[in-house]
Amino acid sequence: MASFSMFKLSFFLSLLSNLNLGLWPQTQNSLIIFPPSCNSIECPIFDTVEVGNGYEVRRYNSTEWMSTSPIQDISLVEATRTGFLQLFDYIQGKNKYEEKIEMTAPVLSEVLPSEGPLCESSFVVSFYVPKKNQENPPPAEGLHLQTWKPKYVAVRQFSGFVSDYNIGEEAAALQASLAGTVWSAAIDKSHAANHTSAYTVAQYNSPFEFDHRVNEIWMIFDLEE
Ligand SMILES: *[C@@H]1O[C@H](CO)[C@@H](O)[C@H](O)[C@H]1NC(C)=O
Ligand SMILES: *[C@@H]1O[C@H](CO)[C@@H](O)[C@H](O)[C@H]1NC(C)=O
Repeated sequence: MASFSMFKLSFFLSLLSNLNLGLWPQTQNSLIIFPPSCNSIECPIFDTVEVGNGYEVRRYNSTEWMSTSPIQDISLVEATRTGFLQLFDYIQGKNKYEEKIEMTAPVLSEVLPSEGPLCESSFVVSFYVPKKNQENPPPAEGLHLQTWKPKYVAVRQFSGFVSDYNIGEEAAALQASLAGTVWSAAIDKSHAANHTSAYTVAQYNSPFEFDHRVNEIWMIFDLEE
């Protein structure tokens, strides 16, 4: 009996690891998979600056995001759920103009360096404001609008579900792939100047979609022209 459950467990584990490896291209040197959800919902457009080995650098022109207040949690997954529920209410019409807003992608979870004791971090969850609403996005209690100037983003894509275990690894992999590039220096400089996020997780799918899931780690930075 014990060996049977052991077998089941290891079978299950190998299924899980195959799931990730099988669905995803083995060669990770080009990161130009267009998130399928951006065919049906609006995503911010960007220019690709460079596709490197294990990373992509993009430039986003000005964009607008509706963001939560910082959410204290030990788990990015939990904080994202909490933040997303607020943003979901917002787009369903729980805002000052009682206006419904179309869903967009990605939803961003920004990881802020922890100030408090031990494990808790702060997370800010953001919704990309559709072009149509950018001129006059309805305000809402507990949410604030962020207008970004043009920004550069170093990106690494990964598939499957975002978990508190894989994000650290993916962020470390992005950092490693950027080591020694001009981008790495620009990111360090930008983050040192601003005390801003370590990294941001961008999710393009709802939790109910199981296939073709695309997530990204973003390191956002400014570049002096
Ligand atoms: C961003 O702005 C620049 C300069 O105005 C323009 O050349 C470029 O096409 C814009 N890119 C996107 C993705 O809108
Ligand atoms: C850093 O701070 C400056 C000035 O407050 C701001 O304009 C810029 O957008 C910030 N950069 C990032 C990457 O957040």
